[in-house]
Amino acid sequence: MAEQKATNVTWHHGEVSREDRYRLLRQKGATIWFTGLSGSGKSTIAVALETALFNQSKLSYRLDGDNVRLGINKNLGFSEQDRKENIRRIGEIAKLFGDAGVISLSSFISPYRADRDEVRRLHEAAKLPFVEVHVDCSLAVAEKRDPKGLYKKARAGEIKNFTGIDDPYEAPANPELHLHTDRMTLEQEVDIIIDYLKKHGIIGARHFTRAEDASEAIAAAR
Ligand code: ADX
Repeated sequence: MAEQKATNVTWHHGEVSREDRYRLLRQKGATIWFTGLSGSGKSTIAVALETALFNQSKLSYRLDGDNVRLGINKNLGFSEQDRKENIRRIGEIAKLFGDAGVISLSSFISPYRADRDEVRRLHEAAKLPFVEVHVDCSLAVAEKRDPKGLYKKARAGEIKNFTGIDDPYEAPANPELHLHTDRMTLEQEVDIIIDYLKKHGIIGARHFTRAEDASEAIAAAR
């Protein structure tokens, strides 16, 4: 866990509560945390899920490894320490999004179990849902897909510390969802996640508080 350096700082509460924001957005905030090898399909699923949620008037936002590493985490590389800090920062950002009422879709290799568990604990302490999704496919399949040509470079020794080649990947022991992208369709994968979100009240009729909204929700569910 990162050390608290600043002293004499306390959380400043506003007048609008998390529940107020959830009512406004008609959804709950949550973090969907995709973890898996490079090329396993994390970003592809996140993109498709984002569209599916948008089409159901649900707000999500993608936090993607490459995107984040071009911005807030541009000063981090791929050493164990840097990957740890990468995940810690994203965990904190995802927590803020969740508090805002947004469903964040975080796609990071996040190879170390301890780092992911730390993000889980952060969410539990903040009473926010954390849905760990193991985006699973064999190294052979990921390497065959090689969408960015990085496995080829890693095999040629042009990239060091590449996950799955000369750097470890620790699979989740007990993820909320386990998707096998080498034998499921993208539609099936998205449906499984949407079902999970509905089953756990993150999206769905529960947030329609006014009478007319409730009838809309019932009509939509038919
Ligand atoms: S993580 O391990 O810190 O979670 P993250 O998901 O942010 O990784 O970034 C992984 C992406 O960075 C990969 O999809 C790939 O495009 C790129 N990349 C560049 N170098 C490496 C490397 N050594 N290991 C893994 N991914 C790398």
